[in-house]
Amino acid sequence: MTRKLIAGNWKMNGSLDTNATLVGEMLAGVGTPACDVALCVPAPYLAQVQGLLAGSSAIELGAQDVSQHENGAFTGDVSATMLRDFGVRYVIVGHSERRQHQAENDVHVAIKVKRALAAGITPIVCVGETLREHEEGMTEFIVKRQLSAVIHLNGHCISEVVVAYEPVWAIGTGKTATPEQAQAVHAVLRAQIKAATDNADRVRILYGGSMNAANAASLLAQPDIDGGLIGGASLKAPDFLKIVAAAD
Ligand code: 13P
Repeated sequence: MTRKLIAGNWKMNGSLDTNATLVGEMLAGVGTPACDVALCVPAPYLAQVQGLLAGSSAIELGAQDVSQHENGAFTGDVSATMLRDFGVRYVIVGHSERRQHQAENDVHVAIKVKRALAAGITPIVCVGETLREHEEGMTEFIVKRQLSAVIHLNGHCISEVVVAYEPVWAIGTGKTATPEQAQAVHAVLRAQIKAATDNADRVRILYGGSMNAANAASLLAQPDIDGGLIGGASLKAPDFLKIVAAAD
């Protein structure tokens, strides 16, 4: 069985002061976790958090986005090789907030995955349906479409990615998918990955969307839920550490 992964997504939160406190508390409490742990921080704080995590093998560094371009005249973009310069191990790609607010589409996401892989960074590819799509019974169709674009461009390299199922209606709303609901979607994704690679079992499929200290254990007990992508609860060390402790 693969080691589970608990990744925090700080989103656009933090400051030099609060980051130092938060990471300090996490390092003090994390011990030797039974799962992989990562913090995906805003780009300007990569150097700071890289420094704070230096010397710890318990928590790895992640970023929240990567440019689809290699380098050049793309003002504001951050390339995969730049992320690698800061020891970034994971990068979130295709988060629904970027799909919604930055007009990222399936093709952009697939190219970003390719850039990350080429730089030796593991992409955490987010898929998930909106509330309306959920209510219209389109969940399976949407997540398969989103993942198939990534598989189409990256082929059997799909075995090198992490997938995160994040139902948009569950993000930051306090409404979590039930363990059974999430497992059903994860099983669909697993089957889709299996059709593309012989190594589907090593691909970690995370759940994200109001995962917290109280509901983590029941979600993580599902056979195809291999970890979590944690938003709000990753900004509070005790909550995040409880989720890490639930992932063994
Ligand atoms: P919340 O845990 O705040 O719902 O956010 C989930 C998420 O979007 C992680 O990427």
